[in-house]
Amino acid sequence: MKSVVLLGATGSIGEQTLEIIEQYPERFKLVAATANHSVKALEAIVHKHDIKIVAIAESHVAAFDDRQCYSATNLDQLINDLEDDVVVVNALVGAVGLKPTMAALKRGFDVLLANKETLVVGGAVIMPLLKESSAKLIPIDSEHSALAQCLRGSRVEDVDKVVITASGGSFRDLDKAALENVTVKDALKHPNWSMGAKITIDSATMMNKVFEVIEAHYLFDLPYHKIEAVLHRESIVHGMVHFVDGNVLMHAGPADMRIPILSALEGDLIRLPYRSVFDITKIKSLSFETIDPIRYSLFDLGIAVARKEGLHTVTMNAANEVAVALFLEGKIAFNAIEEIITDCLLAFDNGYEISLDAILQLDAQVRAYVEKKYMDGE
Ligand SMILES: NC(=O)c1ccc[n+]([C@@H]2O[C@H](COP(=O)([O-])OP(=O)(O)OC[C@H]3O[C@@H](n4cnc5c(N)ncnc54)[C@H](OP(=O)(O)O)[C@@H]3O)[C@@H](O)[C@H]2O)c1
Repeated sequence: MKSVVLLGATGSIGEQTLEIIEQYPERFKLVAATANHSVKALEAIVHKHDIKIVAIAESHVAAFDDRQCYSATNLDQLINDLEDDVVVVNALVGAVGLKPTMAALKRGFDVLLANKETLVVGGAVIMPLLKESSAKLIPIDSEHSALAQCLRGSRVEDVDKVVITASGGSFRDLDKAALENVTVKDALKHPNWSMGAKITIDSATMMNKVFEVIEAHYLFDLPYHKIEAVLHRESIVHGMVHFVDGNVLMHAGPADMRIPILSALEGDLIRLPYRSVFDITKIKSLSFETIDPIRYSLFDLGIAVARKEGLHTVTMNAANEVAVALFLEGKIAFNAIEEIITDCLLAFDNGYEISLDAILQLDAQVRAYVEKKYMDGE
């Protein structure tokens, strides 16, 4: 029986993780769950799973006074206080995922990571921790779950390159000029996946694929020149590995996040049954294209930033998080997301001295800069 701590239990990944846990009560037991403002949803989880440990935004803590309740800003404390062995599913959105991931690895708890921003901002501090820890970092992202399965039993030095796929997001059929006038409602209509709002916008800008390249760099210890991303409109093939001997392994399957969630929860040794909805005879074609650097200019910019290493990805992520939130609130246009990221990358001296403190400090400075300049209109 695995005891599961679910960070971000009320989100898209969180809810799907709960579905899997509920399908296998003899294997997985929820012991703690967290949310930010979704009080009612967290209450329902608490009662259904009879859990004693929760976290929620400070302003709602009183609603859970009959539980061991933490502030959502204090998730690392929640993890430090756990008495028994657990696995931690990190389904938080944003850089807030970094500290609890570090806390879990320090405690020797496996982290099942959906929260890609953790590695984007903190890959350089997470990797040394992972080396010292007995814990594993297991991806929940569909592309990385695909790569992990293709890489099972292989040596990293036998990999020529890995390829991850991108659907192109909600505006893939629009040219760059048409992006001027797109609405939030349209941006949230992803063609293939049903996901949280932030990642849906990140898919439309292609920032999501930048983040996934960074994730792959850290998770599989691969240099950037061995990681490619291609446009694949069907979202059937999620990842592929080219080996030096000419073999290419591809992972295909339906666009259903419960599959990578189950793969992460079950571990390497077993495969648990899950209803299969994959009928290859229904797939009429599979297309793969290079990502157009003009149409998706943020992709090229983001990869260049990633290759610089240092704290540059912290600036990029913080600028992106605030810009996406402002877009979702209707305060800026879609194209302003890229303008804001570019502005921040130029405005900040990013540096190469990496520590948790340096990451958190820069993250806060960039957020404050964007909020002041673009929200207050200064
Ligand atoms: N959704 C997908 O299909 C998918 C696929 C691959 C990877 N991912 C990655 O998985 C992560 C989660 O994505 P998602 O789509 O599930 O996001 P989501 O639906 O927005 O859910 C985010 C969860 O985190 C909580 N949360 C938000 N802000 C928080 C904060 N400041 N402090 C503490 N908790 C906070 C939310 O609580 P409230 O409900 O109270 O707001 C919610 O439980 C992201 O990094 C995303 O890129 C997602």
